[in-house]
Amino acid sequence: MSLENKHYDKCLFWLFPAFRINMFKTLKDFNLNNKRVLVRADFNVPLNKNGVIEDDFRIKQAIPTIDYLRKKKAKTILISHLGDPQGKVVENLRLTPIKKKLEEYLGVEILKADDCIGRKVENQIKQMKESEVLLLENLRFYKEEKENSLEFAKSLAGLADIYVNDAFASSHRSHASIVGVPNYLPSAAGFLLEREIEALFKVLKNPKRPFVAIIGGAKVANKIKAIKYFLKNADHLLVGGEIANTILVVKGICIGRPWPSEQTIEDIKEVDLTSTNFHLPIDAIVSPNKEGDFYTRKVAPGRARTDELILDVGPETIKVFSQIIESAGTIVWAGPLGAFENPLFENGTKSIAEAIVRNRKAFKVAGGGDTVFALFKFNLRERFNHISTGGGAMLAYLSGKKLPGLEALKVDKD
Ligand code: 3PG
Repeated sequence: MSLENKHYDKCLFWLFPAFRINMFKTLKDFNLNNKRVLVRADFNVPLNKNGVIEDDFRIKQAIPTIDYLRKKKAKTILISHLGDPQGKVVENLRLTPIKKKLEEYLGVEILKADDCIGRKVENQIKQMKESEVLLLENLRFYKEEKENSLEFAKSLAGLADIYVNDAFASSHRSHASIVGVPNYLPSAAGFLLEREIEALFKVLKNPKRPFVAIIGGAKVANKIKAIKYFLKNADHLLVGGEIANTILVVKGICIGRPWPSEQTIEDIKEVDLTSTNFHLPIDAIVSPNKEGDFYTRKVAPGRARTDELILDVGPETIKVFSQIIESAGTIVWAGPLGAFENPLFENGTKSIAEAIVRNRKAFKVAGGGDTVFALFKFNLRERFNHISTGGGAMLAYLSGKKLPGLEALKVDKD
């Protein structure tokens, strides 16, 4: 491609969503008949202590790609991680519950392997007939997946003719199945990946103002970068949940609580608490840090005792946050504001979800396992314009970061 052509392509990229997607090949660019297609999905779903799937949203979102591949008579080989077994086989992190869910949604029986690479898997694939679906075992049973091992990527690529990334939620990870495999196979974006980019690109490039970002939940280290970005680029940033508690600890407002890692402390030190668009909880619901005790009390966050956990935002915070949400033109939400799994501490997350859907004119996006599960619990998912399967991936994309998984799929990789 000549230099001018490249610039012309880039112009078209920003102007037309359809052309943007053409930065990647899609399923429709391939003859799939009788081809072995390796689909990297994200079936990392929440399981309860009995191994039952608590929320199957991510599985449901993967169905259109699998249905299409079956219709086109491909042999579909599904790969995913589940939890973080740290490179070892962990019995309760096998993908067996995922198989059952997939069968329910696809309306057909699917095959399951006990491993994700190796001779036995290769033989199972050899015996597959067209339109059949085979689910391989948890990728993270091999430490080589997270290490982005070349050999591991080659072994996965050796199983198929075509690679499809439909795991938007993992595309911020430089893991072998995300960035390694596409080096060895013709590759495409799956339908879910396409849908995610279409919706999130609107928010990234041209958010209707005022733009309000709400960040809560855990995985603090991952979210600090997004906080810095939104402080510069959003009109308001509302922060709750564990991440707010961590900021308050590092800034010396909450004392006597555990310190985060050195890197997180350094990152938080750079966050300017005095920015007028930055809103932290002004009150909190706290409870004793002991099983069996059940009182809750409302305090200013700095007044929580060291034997108490901060488990939700308080009513004054809800009031301030709701007023800001009311006037928003775009709302992005990632991470619950409290421990909503327990009804005693669900009020903050529920009230903020309700405030968001009351704002009918805003473009509303939510993402991340816990947030999406909370919206399911409160029956409010349908009232959002886009529910992203990604938490960390969504925040990274909306913070303008290049996602390694998307970069690896690009037709023109420079
Ligand atoms: C997620 O749940 O955000 C994705 O599945 C990625 O999982 P990870 O944070 O364990 O890499």
